[in-house]
Amino acid sequence: MPRYTPPSHAASEITPRALFDSRRAFIRSAGLGSIALAAGALGLGRAASALAAQKFGALERSPFSTDEKQTPYKDVTNYNNFYEFGTDKREPAQSAQSLRLRPWTVTLDGLVARPRTLDIDSILRLAPLEERIYRMRCVEGWSMVVPWLGIPLAALLKQVEPLGSARYVEFQSLHDPAQMPATRLRVLDWPYTEGLRLDEAMHPLTIMALGLYGEELPRQNGAPLRLVVPWKYGYKGAKSIVRIRFVEREPATSWMRAGPSEYGFYSNVNPGVDHPRWSQATERRLGEFLKRKTLMFNGYAEQVGQLYAGMDLRRNF
Ligand code: MTE
Repeated sequence: MPRYTPPSHAASEITPRALFDSRRAFIRSAGLGSIALAAGALGLGRAASALAAQKFGALERSPFSTDEKQTPYKDVTNYNNFYEFGTDKREPAQSAQSLRLRPWTVTLDGLVARPRTLDIDSILRLAPLEERIYRMRCVEGWSMVVPWLGIPLAALLKQVEPLGSARYVEFQSLHDPAQMPATRLRVLDWPYTEGLRLDEAMHPLTIMALGLYGEELPRQNGAPLRLVVPWKYGYKGAKSIVRIRFVEREPATSWMRAGPSEYGFYSNVNPGVDHPRWSQATERRLGEFLKRKTLMFNGYAEQVGQLYAGMDLRRNF
């Protein structure tokens, strides 16, 4: 991955300010149940209404949320890494718009008692949707604060009753060359694959995100569902997931295959372990000028530090 380059937006890519402000104001003022109407009026379509039906107005803000300033919607949705839709950060906001979101299923299999294929709308009903305002840190040196909507990943994983022999979880993104022409260039080994240790996957901070900023997840951010692991570098957060496999051994990931010395399996945010080509000590928040210090585990050390007790985090980077 290249290093940080500040975002710049063509005027056409930016959600018109007036529309965005009115949508935010509407979402804030709308009571329970009115969001479906808003979604319809704004042309957000069926999927947004399905989300809306799911207790939109009654969203709980998770106590894990940060109260730091949220990164503007236009940056979160116009500065994306989604290589299936091109390697330029401004590309997915345009080229991902044709991705079909329904029907969409996720297969959970491997070392489980009850393998299942679940429809996206049934996943939406598994647990109450929560707002999780998380700090996100990309390995390239930029960071964001994103108000995700999601469910604990554990709520999804428990559906299939993992066996005692399952120690890791592998996540696979959709790989459909017809919808994702950029995958004809083999910049990565498709499908995009990521992995977590089972205890990391079951940790309460780990979520399956289904939305952001009070609305359905935009396609460029990984609709209809993507992984969010806030104490790890952003590339762990596989987008547009279609398969979750429980395995015994540490799974190979797309980035590890692309550069084993650069992208380790753990990928914990760690200012003390530099990327071979650049320092990881500081970061730049999108929309800000000055750099800030990067915190161990992206500031979530209190919650996740014990997962790595006794591990050499230089070797397990
Ligand atoms: N998932 C898929 N399927 N393809 C990708 O190219 N890029 C990763 C991750 N998930 C990627 C992906 C990287 S490098 C980052 S930093 C985050 O998505 C970016 O997520 P965002 O665009 O929502 O900020």
